[in-house]
Amino acid sequence: MDHDEGSSNPSSNRTFVDVLTGYASRRQVMQGGLTLAAGTFFGSSLAMAAAGGKKGPNGPVGQDLKNGLINFTPVPIAEGTGPMPSISVDYQYEVLIPWGTHLENPDQDYLGDPGSRPTPTQQTRQVGIGHDGMWFFPFRGSNTRGLLAINHEFGDNFQVFGKSFPENGDDVLISQHAHGISVVEIRKQGGSWELVRGSEYNRRVHGNTPVTFSGPVANSELIAGDSVPMGTLNNCANGYTPWGTYLTCEENFNGYFNVAPGSSWTATAEQARYGFSGGGFGYGWGNFDERFDLGRADNSAFRNEENRFGWIVEVDPFNPDAAPVKRTALGRCKHEGIAIVEGRGGRIVGYMGDDERFDYIYKFVSAGNWKSMRAQGQSPLDHGTLYAAKFNDDGSGEWLELSPDNPALAGMSLEEILTYARIAADKAGATPMDRPEWTAVAPNGDVYCALTNNSRRTEADAANPLAPNADGHIIRWHDSEQHTGLSFTWDIFVIAQDTHGEGDERTFSDPDGIWIDPDGRIFIQTDGGQKKGLNNQMVVASTYDSGPDLDVRRLFAGVTGDEITGITVTPDRRTMFINTQHPGDGNPALSNFPAAPDGVTIPRDCTIVITRKDGGVIGS
Ligand code: FEO
Ligand code: CA
Ligand code: CA
Repeated sequence: MDHDEGSSNPSSNRTFVDVLTGYASRRQVMQGGLTLAAGTFFGSSLAMAAAGGKKGPNGPVGQDLKNGLINFTPVPIAEGTGPMPSISVDYQYEVLIPWGTHLENPDQDYLGDPGSRPTPTQQTRQVGIGHDGMWFFPFRGSNTRGLLAINHEFGDNFQVFGKSFPENGDDVLISQHAHGISVVEIRKQGGSWELVRGSEYNRRVHGNTPVTFSGPVANSELIAGDSVPMGTLNNCANGYTPWGTYLTCEENFNGYFNVAPGSSWTATAEQARYGFSGGGFGYGWGNFDERFDLGRADNSAFRNEENRFGWIVEVDPFNPDAAPVKRTALGRCKHEGIAIVEGRGGRIVGYMGDDERFDYIYKFVSAGNWKSMRAQGQSPLDHGTLYAAKFNDDGSGEWLELSPDNPALAGMSLEEILTYARIAADKAGATPMDRPEWTAVAPNGDVYCALTNNSRRTEADAANPLAPNADGHIIRWHDSEQHTGLSFTWDIFVIAQDTHGEGDERTFSDPDGIWIDPDGRIFIQTDGGQKKGLNNQMVVASTYDSGPDLDVRRLFAGVTGDEITGITVTPDRRTMFINTQHPGDGNPALSNFPAAPDGVTIPRDCTIVITRKDGGVIGS
């Protein structure tokens, strides 16, 4: 969901825009950035072989490679509109697990009838709403059976309980239970994918599920209270670990807190930096649940409740009884997602975006080899160092350590640094970015981050190469020392507005979800106003190409009012799962998807299963 609230960052760190405009021209940005070391962590790719060894400044390049990677016929702009999805003629799709699908009993599915919405109890055993990041965990490498862990980021009040504002505790409970994540067993049966009802793995984690804390902040007074920690909220994008667990990222958690009638509240500096406001985002939970009332008494059992959100949460999909664990070493911010790679010495490295205008890109590096740490009973996500990114004008960059060892953070304890990572990064001098969304790692070790937009650029000098930057761009960098070093080089992969020309079918805006396959194809999903009447969409390009002439092909376009987000594949990459979030913006007048158009049925967020008609690799 595009919660474009403005900025909570009052620091004077140079914005990324300032850095970028330090260049004489955008071409220089593109050409002057990366000098790549051959840091290959996924092995050499098929794409490299296809390139016939041709090398450019950023690795293999060439038309042959481009054509070899992506051959499908794109969805024409004229077809990517209206209340139903569109897909390339070379592909097909089917719908899986819409919001309201009951984990056991099909008689208790919610099918979009505006007169009979889920009850709070039903919703605890139904797939949640706001489908977002997800990951497929195959059973023993299977391409037809496994677990899908999926985030439920957001639910519009009217869509969820039929009122624009909660009127009682049950309304709040339905909303809380529609958030969180689902873990579901799915299988391909008779050529089509289905939920395995009643599977022992089927699970809901929602806003009231008990959770635990781990890492340096776990026993801190900063998160202490007289209540059991509960819930995960605004679960946006995701990551996954080499040891087979799912990571769900808490983004706009501030929006669930508000000041109840009769309460009074003044924001602390820390609350202000995290965007808390008296009204929240209009969920109204604080009116009926003290936990979310910012004006609760200082000695309330929930006195630090807002510090219990904004974390990355680890869930073991294969162990439905294990409590989700909030991994505090990864810091607290509006976590969009996390891309995990194995760095030098087997250390775990996680790249993370904090999605707010003028907020930062972070990385975490585990203290040691992940296998050794686990063998000693330690989580690699509990012991390590957090950094924030500083982008220099000359195409170099630095990772700024966020720990008491950094003199710029004098006076902050490690617990404070992690709980208020934004404030620590302000002090350290990180570069404020244009809303960092998903991160992804290419086969050559480059790390990509989607910067969805920066409306401030509309007020900037029109002659500046990025002005206006209402449509976002994608940056990439290459870390030293196989992801574990303190320096990097960077350049711009693509600027979205470069694809908008008249007669140009490539158009896309507001890049958000990204994923790069082992061949080097990048899948870009959008969340924002597309140009030329298009719905939000997923396009595919090659990471062996870049710049204004990037060959961007539209694989899928969603429905009116939706956002395309979430991406995962089966091991053979012959099946891809993506999501449509808030189809029709929850309004049946705009879309009834996945129901056929009838003007009445409430649209439901759902997963879209994509296959190539010829059974080929997705994106090819
Ligand atoms: Fe949940 Fe920044 O998108
Ligand atoms: Ca977004
Ligand atoms: Ca997003």
